[in-house]
Amino acid sequence: MNILVINGPSLNLLGTREVEIYGRETLEELMMWLQTSPAASNHSFKFHQSNHEGEIIDTIQDERHWANGMLINPAAFTHYSYAIRDAISSINIPVVEIHLSNIREREDFRQISVISPVCIDQVMGMGKDGYIKGLEILIKYFESH
Ligand code: DQA
Repeated sequence: MNILVINGPSLNLLGTREVEIYGRETLEELMMWLQTSPAASNHSFKFHQSNHEGEIIDTIQDERHWANGMLINPAAFTHYSYAIRDAISSINIPVVEIHLSNIREREDFRQISVISPVCIDQVMGMGKDGYIKGLEILIKYFESH
């Protein structure tokens, strides 16, 4: 499978950003760990991080013919970006929404995800393991479709 992994705003600062919530590993370390995990073998990956809504939408659109599945941590866009939601619902590719933290146990504004209704699943509160979990969900989805 070809898998596109998208990380949204301020996830480029992982490692120093609110370490008590997001941990001390950098995004690069985390993505390298994902790509070299046993679950990832035999799959191809592209990684994209952006702080810009339009760039994330462009990437979803540009990669829609390459990708068989996508993992997306939309970061704060999760809670209000109808534009990213529409971009996901405009492509016929399974997408899993990932959050490092448990957004259900945080501030009120994080309780809503406008992205989850257009994703096949949502993973939260598992830290970096959530990316592997998301990958396993995509693989299972492909085995049964
Ligand atoms: C996050 C949760 C979001 O609410 C937040 O805006 C982020 C990261 C997470 O991975 O836990 O930037 O998506």
